[in-house]
Amino acid sequence: MTIHIGAKPGDIAETVLMPGDPYRAKWAAETFLKDAVCVNEVRGMLGFTGTWNGHRVTIQGSGMGMPSLSIYANELISEYNAQTLIRIGSCGGMQDYVGIRDVILAMTATTLSTPSRGIMKELNFAPCADYGLLAAAAEAAARKGTKTHVGGIYSSDVFYDERPDLNEQMVRHGILGVEMEAAELYILAARHKRRALAVLTVSDHLLTHEALPADQRERSFGDMVEIALEAAFT
Ligand code: ADE
Repeated sequence: MTIHIGAKPGDIAETVLMPGDPYRAKWAAETFLKDAVCVNEVRGMLGFTGTWNGHRVTIQGSGMGMPSLSIYANELISEYNAQTLIRIGSCGGMQDYVGIRDVILAMTATTLSTPSRGIMKELNFAPCADYGLLAAAAEAAARKGTKTHVGGIYSSDVFYDERPDLNEQMVRHGILGVEMEAAELYILAARHKRRALAVLTVSDHLLTHEALPADQRERSFGDMVEIALEAAFT
């Protein structure tokens, strides 16, 4: 047990999928894993371990934002020996050719700041995905025929952003979408020599202001989970 994860040693698989929403962890485990067992309920941040095509997988909620993800990713890495960590989550589209329901594979994650800022100091570290996972996810997405974009995303600290000028710069520099967790996941993976990737579904759009209705989310989120699972075990 750790401070935030009640699982026993050995309850967590080496491959961990991390949705922000604990109820999405439950849905994904019930939908995609065999023999899924709940391994964490501390603070309602649900985690489940089961198998997918014979491989052990844990799906553990991360909560919203980099400080929350940092707690779970640190404990999964340092106390439970997680080797492959894949964020599965939603993001806001930032390019006109990126549509609602499209999938984004985050090659890099630009930030203003992360919980690792204190140790990076003046260094502008470039958080990036594990190339093997990224390439495998791109191939899995192509096999499924899912409309997918590979490129840079922005990991923001604020959902209700009052800096439109900053978003303009992101759009101008080709950033595909905005979410709130991937950069710190990539930095922790780099620090601990683990593999990480963020597979994101576009749930809303900063340019068009479209948003995916809640009742239509599952099908697109399902594609994202399958892409993450196939990438993990390629
Ligand atoms: N996650 C999903 N949509 C988002 C947005 N517009 N901004 C930040 N995180 C998000």
